[in-house]
This record gives sequence, structure tokens and C-alpha cells, in this order.
Amino acid sequence: MENRHRHLFDGNTILNVYNNDVINLSVGAPGPDLLKNCGEMMLKATQHRLEEEKNEGKYYLFQYGTTPGLWECRDELKNFLSRRYGDQVDDENLILTCGATHGVQLILNSIISPNGIIFVEQVTYMIALDAFKQFPLMKIIMVPMKNNYVDFEKFDEIINNELKKNNNYLITNDKIFWAMFYTIPTFHNPTGMTIPPESCKKIVDIARKYSIVVVCDDVYNLLSYNDDLPPHRLFYYDDKNDVDYKGGNVISNGSFSKILSPAIRLGWLECPPRISSILKQSGIMKSGGAVNHYVSGVIASLLHLKLQDEYVDLLIKTYQERLKIVCDILDRYLPRCCSYKKPDGGYFVWIQLHQECDAGKFVKWCQENYKVTAIPGSRFSLIDESKNYLRLSIAFHKSEVLKNATKKLCQGLLIYIRQSLVKN
Ligand SMILES: Cc1ncc(COP(=O)(O)O)c(C=O)c1O
Repeated sequence: MENRHRHLFDGNTILNVYNNDVINLSVGAPGPDLLKNCGEMMLKATQHRLEEEKNEGKYYLFQYGTTPGLWECRDELKNFLSRRYGDQVDDENLILTCGATHGVQLILNSIISPNGIIFVEQVTYMIALDAFKQFPLMKIIMVPMKNNYVDFEKFDEIINNELKKNNNYLITNDKIFWAMFYTIPTFHNPTGMTIPPESCKKIVDIARKYSIVVVCDDVYNLLSYNDDLPPHRLFYYDDKNDVDYKGGNVISNGSFSKILSPAIRLGWLECPPRISSILKQSGIMKSGGAVNHYVSGVIASLLHLKLQDEYVDLLIKTYQERLKIVCDILDRYLPRCCSYKKPDGGYFVWIQLHQECDAGKFVKWCQENYKVTAIPGSRFSLIDESKNYLRLSIAFHKSEVLKNATKKLCQGLLIYIRQSLVKN
């Protein structure tokens, strides 16, 4: 009989984040103390939306939707994002998706040559790497990073090398790009870092120069823990008023997974018109009507009633506190041969261990001896590098659990490093 798992992290006693025998600091998803708020919010939004359906009497919400997604939802989303980003968002540029994962899949299926190239950062969202491998004709190429950002010289060199090869990319009216660069510019997964403005401009320059599309997973952008507005998304830097504007080379791939609930499966692609017009003609999107149409109606009400704003404020406050607690402990207890940089937002803290320390081996040891676990750096690397790094997530556990677990992890690390250095 099939195992009746209850959630994605079920089925493995160590990695099961709901099992407190081992504290799992791996999971990039909210815990029950936050998710408990979703029921009430969704109930209010559902009631509001169903009332509107009744008043109108057409029950369009239960009909096939329009290809880019319910316009009321895109309109409310435009207002919400413009307000929270502090930058204007145009609803014409928004295509609703079933979340960021679906957004990337849609892009790969629709606008990139089927034998094209996917450039990825030296470390990146590990499951995106798994997803890219499901496009076997595409080649995945790692771009080295320098001081936490893309090494632009190397990137230029790698692109030129690829272009010199006779790859016969299939470029059509729809598949307008031979390559995509997948990046997480703001509150990166796993590093937590944000690309500075001058680097954003450089990425846009490279994309324009070589006709590449830059796909930004912007799923953490609104979880910004400084008091001011979040950093501009990279999409902002691809300004249509620039003299060298090429029609738009950046897509912002957003999601409600990190700002509401992963189970909602609703997200959006913010694209320039030349890309959104292709997606609007996608046969798959047209045949299915809008994706997640009913949910978009409920979310339109959630946004309209400002419940989403209130919830983002609560998340920011909660995560800000959790991040501070984890970093305070790291400042105090992290062995001196290890280091980290406090991020300004998002879910993750990226710890560099002693050069000789293999985080994969340490994690196994720590699970057994200190009952704490996290993800070793190699999981985020296409070529199994970054072995001496560790990613902690602040999303799931409450402050007290995080505090104790981070302390234990640091204590374990000290012992482990001492032992392994003596052996060597
Ligand atoms: C960078 C990044 N992109 C995408 C996702 C998944 O997003 P979604 O649930 O919207 O598919 C995650 C979740 O961890 C992520 O960290």
C-alpha cells in the first residue's frame, strides 16, 4: 500500500520537520504557528468572493478563465506589489501561474530553444537543479560566483565559448531565446544575499548583449527585514526607456508560497510584453483556461481586503525576530574558523565552515550526536562543490527551538572540527 505521507517532509524520521527528536533546520517553509492563520484568512476571502459571484449571478469563477489569469486578481496583485515593492507594476505584464516552480517550467517550455542553455549560479535553489534535469536536451552550465555574486568576466567568457560552438538552437517566433540565466537576485537561496544595484545593471547588460532571458525567482523579495522598502527586483533595471533596451530580457517569477502558504499554489510571472504575448498564446494555458482560476478569485479578495498585507507584516516581524535570534547565537557560538553574513531578508543563513570540513559528513554526525540537522552546501551545487557550507532556515521553527538548535549545532561543530582536525 502507498505510504500515506501528510506533507513533503514526511516519511523520514530525521528530515521530518514535525518530528522534534531531531530539529531539522533544513526546511524552507512556514511552520504550523504561522500556517494556522491561513484558515481564517481564506475563509474571509472565500466568503467575500462568493458573495460577489452571487451578486453578479454568472458564476464565472467556476468557469474556464482567461489565459493570463483572472483580471481582478492581476489588478489587485498589481496594486499590492506596487505598494510593497515601492515600484510600479503593470497588470498587463502579469501572468498567473501555479507558483514559481510552474513559472519556470512554463518559461522553459514556451520561450527557450528546446536544446538551449540554462545558466545557473555556483550555488542555487537545489530543487530547481532537479527540475532543469528534466529537460534533457538542454545543457545546464554553472556560472562561478565572486564575493557572493556572479563573476561577470567569467560569465562573458562562458557565453562566448558556447556561442562559438555550432549548436543549431531552435529559434522560432515563440522560442525567442537560445539561453536563460536562472538567478535568485534578492535574499538568495541558499546564500541569503542580495545582488547590489551595479551588478543588477551588469546582468541586464549581459542579457541584452547576448539575447539571453534572465529568470529571477523573486519569491523572497517581500520578506525584507530592514525598515525601508525591499531592494528593487532585477526586472526594474531592464528599463524600457534605456537606449539599448532590447524589448525586455528579464522575468520576475513570484509566488504566494513564501508570503501566504505553499499549498495555495498560486504565483505570477511579471514579463515584458514580447514575452507575455507569447505566454498568452500558449496552447496549454489556453486549453486549461487560467491556471488555478478559482484560487485566484479567492486571492483577489484576500488582496482587496488587505488581509495579505497584514499577513506579510506579521511574517516580516516574526522572521526578523527569528533571524536575529539565530544570528545572535551564531555571533556568540560559531567556531572562529567558520563565518557567515547576516542577510537582510528571506529564509536562509549560509555558513562557511572550516575549509577542510565536509558539511555532508558533519550533518550526519550532528544528527546522531546533537539531534540537529541542516542542508550541506553541495546540495546547492550543480557539480557537487561548496562542500564546506551549510544552509540554515529560519522559516519553520519558533524562536526558542531555533535558538536551542542553533546553539547545539555550533557546539557540535566545534567538537567535530576539533576531532577531524586532530585526525588529519
Ligand atoms: C528560490 C526558490 N524558487 C522557488 C521555490 C518554490 O516556489 P513555489 O512554491 O512557488 O513553486 C522555492 C522554495 O523553496 C525557492 O526557494
